[in-house]
Amino acid sequence: MANTATHDIWNGQSGRDWADNQRALDIFLRDAMDQLLADLPLTPGANVLDIGCGAGTLSLRMADQVAETGAVLGLDVSEPLLQLARRRSVGRDSPSFRKLDIQTDDLDQPGAKSATRFDLCASQIGMMFFSDPVRALRRIRAHLCPGAVIAFNGWGQDDNPWFSLPLKVAERHLGPLPSAPASPAPNNAAPISPPLSAPPRRRGPWLLRM
Ligand SMILES: C[S@@+](CC[C@H](N)C(=O)[O-])C[C@H]1O[C@@H](n2cnc3c(N)ncnc32)[C@H](O)[C@@H]1O
Repeated sequence: MANTATHDIWNGQSGRDWADNQRALDIFLRDAMDQLLADLPLTPGANVLDIGCGAGTLSLRMADQVAETGAVLGLDVSEPLLQLARRRSVGRDSPSFRKLDIQTDDLDQPGAKSATRFDLCASQIGMMFFSDPVRALRRIRAHLCPGAVIAFNGWGQDDNPWFSLPLKVAERHLGPLPSAPASPAPNNAAPISPPLSAPPRRRGPWLLRM
């Protein structure tokens, strides 16, 4: 199943808005990212994947921790965000960034002798936009070393003013709004991710050990 709606959203106004507001969003999400990083088994030399890397803040911070002997690859579907991520990492070998949807695209070049393997796959609010999360997670797992970890956070199910407040204001002026499509939705991972709310609370990320 394609991720067409997600691609359209993140290459359209949402992607541009997220890029234009990168500094403010990084401040807003700093506590959540600090918590995620604190729980990641990041060691010098590790090979790390960042899913839905956006403007690259998590990738840059992880690249500092895995040092020159390690490497971070950020994947995203959003051209505006990848452009910004690349600008922010000019002159560095790592992180590197690729436009790729792990649910549908091949990470390895055709004819590659063996699959690229990672010690860790991390994501900050980038794992809940898959139209087929099981397929996406299986494909991620195929690129992990034995014992590798997948760690991600996501928005919780509790009332999140970041989403509910604009809707309440719109409803006051426009009347009842049609219900939102089930997917893609920012809180799609809520049933399986530890709750993150606005402002983010200090809760651990979701860790899966392979
Ligand atoms: C809420 S933003 C988070 C960006 C970044 N991780 C951060 O913390 O600032 C979600 C990101 O996931 C990306 N994304 C959504 N679906 C994706 C997919 N199937 N594969 C790769 N990236 C995806 C979007 O393009 C967007 O950059």
